[in-house]
Amino acid sequence: MKPVKIGLLGLGTVGGGTVNVLERNGAEISRRAGRALKVVQASARDLTKSRICSTEGIALTERSEDVVSNPDIDIVVELIGGTDKALELVLSAIANGKHVVTANKALIALHGNEIFAAAQERGVMVAFEAAVAGGIPIIKAIREGLAGNRIEWLAGIINGTGNFILTEMRDKGRDFADVLAEAQKLGYAEADPTFDVEGIDAAHKLTILGSIAFGKPLRFDKVYVEGISKITSEDIDYAEELGYRIKHLGIARRANGGVELRVHPTFIPERRLLANVDGVMNAVLVQGDAAGPTLYYGAGAGADATASAVVADLVDVVRTLAADPEARVPHLAFQPDAISEVPVLAMEDVETAYYLRMAAADRPGVLAEVAHILGERGISIEAVVQKAPEAGMDHVPLILLTHRVREGEMNEAINRIEALEGIQGAVTRIRVEHLDAN
Ligand code: HSE
Repeated sequence: MKPVKIGLLGLGTVGGGTVNVLERNGAEISRRAGRALKVVQASARDLTKSRICSTEGIALTERSEDVVSNPDIDIVVELIGGTDKALELVLSAIANGKHVVTANKALIALHGNEIFAAAQERGVMVAFEAAVAGGIPIIKAIREGLAGNRIEWLAGIINGTGNFILTEMRDKGRDFADVLAEAQKLGYAEADPTFDVEGIDAAHKLTILGSIAFGKPLRFDKVYVEGISKITSEDIDYAEELGYRIKHLGIARRANGGVELRVHPTFIPERRLLANVDGVMNAVLVQGDAAGPTLYYGAGAGADATASAVVADLVDVVRTLAADPEARVPHLAFQPDAISEVPVLAMEDVETAYYLRMAAADRPGVLAEVAHILGERGISIEAVVQKAPEAGMDHVPLILLTHRVREGEMNEAINRIEALEGIQGAVTRIRVEHLDAN
């Protein structure tokens, strides 16, 4: 049988990795797919740049439009990132009857509903395993492996750069900016690294996971997003002292009245497997009603790891080329006419536990005032730590762990605490999740 012809948009880290994996494992891959897979054309912005792969036998062009309109190409692999140009190219590839594989989480999170509708209409596939958690086959696991479950919640470390930064800060006391520069050099970080440190990249990925878990349309604008840029080494140390680790989590959960979709730094008990996922590694914990908790772990970024997911999608597409489009695995796990809108809870209505850190005047009664404000709102305290004053300081760090409460109540309590005369400056708040079955 003739090889399936592939056109690549982008020959950077993931594009180069994809060419390398297809070359290195070509024989195994064609035994799995039933056909050989051949990259026949690739576009890149600057053809003079050095590459991590050989481009021998690949027709190169600076015009990505040439790839999506090339009549010889069966599958277009979009690896240019960004949303404007990528959307235009993907829609044009679909209109030209080509299947699409993409690693572009922003594109799927923001425009996936429109892209899937166009693909459905044209009878082509859009595969996006590489968009979430690099080499971990998490889309396939939720969409197919857990298809018998009602997914109750999932929680994931889904940004490798952020996890690398938090790990290095904790283990080596390294500076935030210095670790970020290393992540950029290693090719983990986004073109705009604020996407990593401010949680936007994780929110793109959570949008996708939330939709395939609950069968709802992609709604990136409804995700609560908080990054790691305000995490201090002080909080990392207190977490350790209290038996927790700070991880940047994406959480999707069924709740009364809708679903929660939130991305923020989170205290998790240090004994949880997720707490021990370090460096650039990603992991997603999924709670299904039948399977119970299942955990997926692996490299969340990097050339070969992400290429692994791109190539798996290529194999999936090739295997189903001859299948009836109606019989394919639906893009968002649920049949298109069974996707239904579910309200995403406002952050004030989310219930979680909290770590609070404040600078308290070192005199009698201040702790009692803080406890009174929390008690008035039914906020129960789980632990209190007060540090000895440093020489010459009249304020001491006061740390509290609370039980679960509605965030709106906590916001009011924090406003009242910050207004106390005995409390200096702002209260630092980090949410706490125990990640037990319920
Ligand atoms: N910047 C992303 C990360 C790359 O660090 O996880 C993989 O999506």
